[in-house]
Amino acid sequence: MRVLFIGDIVGEGGRAAVKRFVPELRAELGIEFCIANGENMAAGNGYSATCLKDLDGAGVDVFTSGDHIWDQKNFEQEILDFPNVLRPANFFEGQPGAGYGVFSASNGQQVAVLNLIGRTFLAQASNCPFQAADKISAQLREATPFLMVDFHAEATSEKIAMGRFLDGRASAVLGTHTHVPTADEQIFPGGTAYQTDVGMVGSRKSILGREIDPVLRKFTTGMPSRFNVCKNGIRLHATIVELDENGRATSIQRIHRDLP
Ligand SMILES: [Fe+2]
Ligand SMILES: [Fe+2]
Repeated sequence: MRVLFIGDIVGEGGRAAVKRFVPELRAELGIEFCIANGENMAAGNGYSATCLKDLDGAGVDVFTSGDHIWDQKNFEQEILDFPNVLRPANFFEGQPGAGYGVFSASNGQQVAVLNLIGRTFLAQASNCPFQAADKISAQLREATPFLMVDFHAEATSEKIAMGRFLDGRASAVLGTHTHVPTADEQIFPGGTAYQTDVGMVGSRKSILGREIDPVLRKFTTGMPSRFNVCKNGIRLHATIVELDENGRATSIQRIHRDLP
């Protein structure tokens, strides 16, 4: 089983790169299942039905998310029409949508996806991600050996801890949220592929996908700024994980593609 995992999609430029590269990557590399964190697809902030429809047919099977999931005011209703869009499973009870699910890959096999959010240096209030991971991973592994986890978190330590915690219980634990890919991809002893952060689909001529000058103004003067999303210099960051029939990772590889 070959799984393509794409980092946070930022704005229109990010969506353009997904449409441009994902169908081609799927065909070239024999990708059977594709997950993308899309929490910044709607002009940098959250999801919308319109943006999800824009990506119809691009080849993403499941969208994950994080702290920006409810940024667009209609999305708490709209999410109900998109069973392939997940919000973190350890959000408080009563929030709409689902935090995990079992989905079909193109080879007919079932893949479980679990979305979690961290609690260190993140303003978003949530329940313990480790308790949620413990309970839900056991349930999901009864349905299928293939379990992909998106851990949307800020602190590298919390992310590595989650990878180690789920080693042998998940096929892969891949981090999102920072928009910066890390070079620590590896397979842990129990067979879990791990990377602290996959990166983003956004501008490499930016600060985390936003125009440089307004972000500099905020840092250098402390004055509020409007952080517009950059449309140029878009790079798609993704990671490919290969799994054996028992759901154990046999390889993990970072890739990137640049829009001209
Ligand atoms: Fe993000
Ligand atoms: Fe985030």
